[in-house]
Amino acid sequence: MNQALYGATVKTLTVQDMTAMKQRGEKITCLTAYDASFSALCDAIGIDILLVGDSLGMVIQGQQTTLPVTVNDMVYHTRCVSQARRRAFIIADLPFMSYPNALCAAQNAARLMQESGAQMVKLEGARLETTRFLVDQGIPVCGHLGLLPQQINQLGTYKVQGKTTADADKILENAHQLQQAGASLLVLECVPAALAKTISDELTIPVIGIGAGIDCDGQVLVLYDMLGISIGKSPRFSKNFMLETNSISDAIAAYQLAVKQRQFPTSEHSF
Ligand code: KIV
Repeated sequence: MNQALYGATVKTLTVQDMTAMKQRGEKITCLTAYDASFSALCDAIGIDILLVGDSLGMVIQGQQTTLPVTVNDMVYHTRCVSQARRRAFIIADLPFMSYPNALCAAQNAARLMQESGAQMVKLEGARLETTRFLVDQGIPVCGHLGLLPQQINQLGTYKVQGKTTADADKILENAHQLQQAGASLLVLECVPAALAKTISDELTIPVIGIGAGIDCDGQVLVLYDMLGISIGKSPRFSKNFMLETNSISDAIAAYQLAVKQRQFPTSEHSF
């Protein structure tokens, strides 16, 4: 792990550290990051996971959706993030159509790990066969269920998922299947808090929520949303931490503390 920027040796978190945090009931903090400066800042504040999300298509590139993001974009931004962090665990998104089959997924995931320093890749949806294949190759996988932004053209709008019993049961079943297939982490986006609680309680792998209520094992927000600088309207589940603080580093520290102390999200940010 690259620690040369700072000299002192700091242990980089592993997937086992995330599982241990779940087991001892310590909330896991995660923010998206896309560049070296924010990576170093979030890392120094103690954010546990830096997610190089394909949300960069919207907040960095100004695209309408995450769909135009390429593997090359992800490789570039993940490298920027990984070069500047010491402790935080790094997850990189596999972007739209970079995992149409297991082999393709493995080849693109390998680029994110070998060229950019990602420790895990995240895939949207219940990609069970692909998850099994990646895990067999030694590639740790983070699942992503609930609202799947890469399916926006099928969904029509970014809305809460799992509201009907049938939809909730499907998400719960998929969560178990992903764990069974070897995923070591799960992101749950925009689902009712009660469903997220059931999934977090039943799964042994850590569940990181975004718009999924307080009972997940950890929380993730899009960095630019929580700093209040995203283009357009921020989602209801996010919170602008800059409104209560005087600097970017104080806002990130306030988020870190609020998640660790179970003060974020509140019912106002949940469904
Ligand atoms: O791309 C991203 O930022 C994400 C989070 C919203 C979880 O996947």
